[in-house]
Amino acid sequence: MNTRLIIAIDGPSGVGKGTVARDVAAALGYRHIDTGAMYRAVAWRAKTAAVSLDDADALTALAERLDIVASGPSVLVDGVEVSGEIRTPEIDRGASRVARVAGVRTALVAQQRRLGAGGGVVMEGRDIGTVVFPDAEVKVYLDASADERARRRLHDDVRRETRDPGQVAGEMAARDEADRTRAVAPLAMAADAHLIDTTPLSIRQVVEQILAIAAAGRGRS
Ligand code: DC
Repeated sequence: MNTRLIIAIDGPSGVGKGTVARDVAAALGYRHIDTGAMYRAVAWRAKTAAVSLDDADALTALAERLDIVASGPSVLVDGVEVSGEIRTPEIDRGASRVARVAGVRTALVAQQRRLGAGGGVVMEGRDIGTVVFPDAEVKVYLDASADERARRRLHDDVRRETRDPGQVAGEMAARDEADRTRAVAPLAMAADAHLIDTTPLSIRQVVEQILAIAAAGRGRS
């Protein structure tokens, strides 16, 4: 069977969505799209263009006109490679604020739907299975204990985190709470998603579970 699926992977920060989504996409020959990087890109551009994070209209206009490429290892914003610069504590906070703006979400969700149309895509984020692709054939919600997520974040090679582990864990918990309780498209598990508690699992084990779910999904469609 040759159906090219949409695989939606949602979950809180530090759970390992990026690595897992990349590996699942590679195994299937699908594109990997990191939607968190798109919210980060808007926050990064707002910072460099001195746009206030309180100015919803200006942020929406940015999201509507920016050319963001968030598939593959590099993230490009209007042709500028920003993959390192968007993964800093400042942009962590900025992206979470930008992601609360309804107009920003409308603009980015429209782009995400265009990118995923036709399938053959692994898209990771917070609202992929609930809002962006509620009809995705495969929906996975990854979770892990707060301690384990903080540990993974501290070992993230791109970030080279040197701050106090307690501070990192505290900031992550605060951002997750904001993502879960915001008015628009909060982080939530879709009713028909497969929940995987990754706390005791290796990346490879998580990837294998998702590939098994995807194989069953292909069989059905
Ligand atoms: O996955 P991440 O940490 O790179 O995401 C950055 C921020 O963007 C985070 O605060 C959650 C938000 N986000 C979102 O609201 N919806 C998405 N689909 C992806 C990320």
